[in-house]
Amino acid sequence: MGDRWWEDAVIYQVYLRSFADGNGDGYGDIPGLRSRLGYLRSLGVDAVWVSPWYPSPMRDGGYDVADYQDIDPLFGSLEDAAALFEDAHRIGLRVLIDVVPNHTSDQHPWFLAALSSAEGAPARERYYFRDGRGPDGSLPPNDWPSAFGGPAWSRTTRPDGSPGQWYLHLFAPEQPDLNWGCGEVQHDFEKVMRFWYDLGADGCRVDAVPAMGKDSTLPDAGIAASDVFSPSGWPETPLWDGESVHGVLRSWRAVAASYSPEKFLVGEVIVNGPARLARYLRDDELHSVLGFELSRAPWSAEAFRACIGPTLDGPWPGRARPTWFLSSHDEVRAVTRYAQARAQAQAQAQAQAQAQARDRRPGGTGQAQLAAGTARARAALLVMLALPGAACIYQGEELGLWQVEDLPLELLEDPIVARTGDPSKGRDGCRVPVPWAGGAPPFAFTPGPSSWLPQPRSWADLTVDHQQRSAGSTLRLVTRALELRRETAGLLTDRFEWREPGDGALAFERGAGFSCVANFDGGPLDLPPGTDVVLASGPLAGDGRLPAGTAAWLTVSVPLRGRRPGS
Ligand code: GLC
Repeated sequence: MGDRWWEDAVIYQVYLRSFADGNGDGYGDIPGLRSRLGYLRSLGVDAVWVSPWYPSPMRDGGYDVADYQDIDPLFGSLEDAAALFEDAHRIGLRVLIDVVPNHTSDQHPWFLAALSSAEGAPARERYYFRDGRGPDGSLPPNDWPSAFGGPAWSRTTRPDGSPGQWYLHLFAPEQPDLNWGCGEVQHDFEKVMRFWYDLGADGCRVDAVPAMGKDSTLPDAGIAASDVFSPSGWPETPLWDGESVHGVLRSWRAVAASYSPEKFLVGEVIVNGPARLARYLRDDELHSVLGFELSRAPWSAEAFRACIGPTLDGPWPGRARPTWFLSSHDEVRAVTRYAQARAQAQAQAQAQAQAQARDRRPGGTGQAQLAAGTARARAALLVMLALPGAACIYQGEELGLWQVEDLPLELLEDPIVARTGDPSKGRDGCRVPVPWAGGAPPFAFTPGPSSWLPQPRSWADLTVDHQQRSAGSTLRLVTRALELRRETAGLLTDRFEWREPGDGALAFERGAGFSCVANFDGGPLDLPPGTDVVLASGPLAGDGRLPAGTAAWLTVSVPLRGRRPGS
């Protein structure tokens, strides 16, 4: 890998609170992560993205930052972070930090200073403070909704106890939005990035990027607070994806490019379609984006193809491309998603998932469904890892962990639960700590007695230690896939051609005789003659055919004619 190492990298997402605990308090931390770097190296990933580790009141799992240039004591210290960068680099791993620029915590000194300043004072310029509407100002300044439910505005209280101005928060009220039209905000963030680069970070995952592109006149959007917050469905809206964000990205790219080797910028960018997405990938903006298509595709060959084709065909400038992923700390884990029945169309799948989500507590998805979901998630991983470009694996995905759906209500921390009143919408279930070893919780996650969220006892068969020793485990499958990904000539090229394996299946060829075939839900599939299976996500049928819910990587001795994606 050269200077542009990210182009085909596998990035491993660490949700720090739940990865590995070094000090026994039940929360994952930097010393815990350092102690497990060897595992990540042997898994074969190229880089680690660490979720926010800054001082934070943790009202949104650390995505509410109270100081961008320090580490929360829960996670360790700046010395620990520097040691992490050093350890990682020594074994050839890169480390990306998570930068949260759209909002701070309501406990950040900038916001506290703004609150204690008079209305209209310069200290308020860093945020969006506005008078309310209506004769007594008791209505929010506009109709913008919060991504977490309810309106995007909260009202302040003046020192004399009377109601004051309102402030904007596209996420939780404890996450006031920064005003990116303010020169000081821009200047301070460049400093923040340099601070981490100088300490050793290799780049940044940037949170909620299009949220910074707001129309600063804050006009009504015509969206009801009760409408689903859905930027990928909004054609044009004043609260998201506006032109102003691109100037900010250009300044960050200049900072990244002033280092040698250049620092890597990958943004969380959810917008309406590839043409809008491509704007973030211009040569002087982000290097890559985490788009959401694959992680939202239901288990069907058509849905995967409808996502992969346009993503590969997109109007991406230069060599830029989205980074693929199936799971994250925000999504229902893939095993559980695919455990749901097949849906013909994404809309139908979503409606079904929501309905099932409501009915899911406390029993959760059944074991037989989870077994099917696990087989499909393994197949999906082989599909994703055979695609051109970079890919991201969320911690525990390599173990086939599922969504924990029966966490005690009082332990749920996700602000979405409180804002919507709907526990099934919460993201805690994909954030349950990693099981490392042993036969009972906390499965060596912590040297202490318990983990901050309880792990299911049935994860005894899914621990890292158990899977490292079990032929056929998901961990062994992913480790082998990453090994082959590094070594297989066809996977190192940009070539990609669809093939037509038949209903309910997907196949593509990658050059040098390599192809990937996935049978989603078709009948047993004949593999092309003259091919060898180099890796399969599950057992083949006795007659050598590929059963439903299975994918295989093949070497093809006689490459077949195919067609270009999307043609
Ligand atoms: C991003 C993060 C998510 C967080 C939100 C607000 O979507 O991935 O976890 O809640 O931004 O910061």
